Amino acid sequence: MSYVIGVDLGTSAVKVLLLDGSGKVAAEASRDYPLFHEHSGWSEQRPDDWVNGTVEALRELAERSGVSPDEIEGLSFSGQMHGLVLLDAAGNPVRNAILWNDTRTTAECREIESLVGKDRLLTITRNPALEGFTLPKILWVRKHEPEVFARAVSFLLPKDYLRYRLTGALHMDYSDAAGTLLLDVANKRWSSDVLEAVSLPASFAPPLVESQALTGTLLPERAAAAGLNADTKVFAGGADNACGAIGSGILQEGLTMCSIGTSGVILSYEATSGNDFRGKVHFFNHGKENAFYAMGVTLAAGYSLSWFKQTFAKGESFDELLQGVGDVKPGAKGLLFTPYLVGERTPHADSVIRGSFIGIDGSHERVHFARAVMEGITFSLNESVDMFRQAGKTVDTIISIGGGASNPVWLQMQADIFNAEVVSLENEQGPGLGAAMLAAYGCGWFDSLEACAELFVKRASVYKPDPAAVDAYGGLFRIYQDVYASTRALNEGLQAYRNS
Ligand code: XUL
Repeated sequence: MSYVIGVDLGTSAVKVLLLDGSGKVAAEASRDYPLFHEHSGWSEQRPDDWVNGTVEALRELAERSGVSPDEIEGLSFSGQMHGLVLLDAAGNPVRNAILWNDTRTTAECREIESLVGKDRLLTITRNPALEGFTLPKILWVRKHEPEVFARAVSFLLPKDYLRYRLTGALHMDYSDAAGTLLLDVANKRWSSDVLEAVSLPASFAPPLVESQALTGTLLPERAAAAGLNADTKVFAGGADNACGAIGSGILQEGLTMCSIGTSGVILSYEATSGNDFRGKVHFFNHGKENAFYAMGVTLAAGYSLSWFKQTFAKGESFDELLQGVGDVKPGAKGLLFTPYLVGERTPHADSVIRGSFIGIDGSHERVHFARAVMEGITFSLNESVDMFRQAGKTVDTIISIGGGASNPVWLQMQADIFNAEVVSLENEQGPGLGAAMLAAYGCGWFDSLEACAELFVKRASVYKPDPAAVDAYGGLFRIYQDVYASTRALNEGLQAYRNS
């Protein structure tokens, strides 16, 4: 039997999956690593924590599965997007990585707009300057840590750094490069116009490859530490959302995905670069060759729920925390939550806004707060669904993956709030599955990703919208949408107190 591995380099942990030729998960393992929030709005990780965690998880995977390393043909990656790893001439990081959910770079976003031109930036990169993207982070380090920046000769994204450490070869794939704000997305090349405008040399950007491209094999010492063979083929892989799309079979026009991980996204397949959303939603290259996707992002989706658990139910499991939420009616007895814990991206690109509970009543219990958090996250995602519908797209079926798809109450809530059929999958680990599918395709097991999806991606259940709940949520959603404007100025006033 032949096997492939999908490595999903997430924000809270790395998860590795071993898949057999039929797409069945033979084993899985994971390792957590720390996140550092030195100041409000900052979010960093140590790049070598990713490498050590992955090697340990791979070793556990190999040992636990009992599969011989000779049978493992290839591996590939899905990675948290946009994170900046600056490398010195010897290939070592010059500082911690600055992550996708770090919002320190508002001034740099304005600087990019003035250096490149707002419209020109949108035309070339198909996206506006947002704090979470990579280029603003490069400019931040150059301005605030000039001595550190002076040592940097190039940059990588998180999973590209991990792959570099495993193979010794430097690459970046298009789907992840699209989130740097340096890629000419439609033409699939680094934009010399943007690079020149921000005074970065072309040599700063690594070689570009397709997601299924073979990038090398494992370095002997890494292979030995991971319990794998050194001739295991290593394929480029893609951005986690692109891999999530592959792992949920979003490979043709008309399909929409909802993914609730640390962040939450609503993603819609785009066959060409023709649709222009003028920056209202992100527009990136897919992990499938020459395809694209548009998506809206909620920065703190699963993160809102894990923050709530960590703060108010430490030591409990998610199952314990969510016990009884299904018995609470839509609207959590008049309690509304906005998930702006680290600012927001879609539809309000705003690093200052913070979350709220509105309508706290003396009769509310913890379970109402838990339900309100789940509803608030889903309302936020519904803003993206709404935008796609307003842009003329039909959104009637949504494939749901990630943590939000492992809870039936939440799946029904998605169907009721999105007013669409929500489909769960037998394997809801979208990004890791998508990464393994890229390896299977790269190994030549299939002629196309679609053929691979036919065998590997299996639908489990369909949740249909309940008309009464759709109605109730319609009214609540309009109130939810008002909270942003009503709390914006209050949060501006509170900003001064955040780091005190
Ligand atoms: C997408 C984004 C997040 C991260 C999460 O633009 O920033 O979804 O990819 O890992």
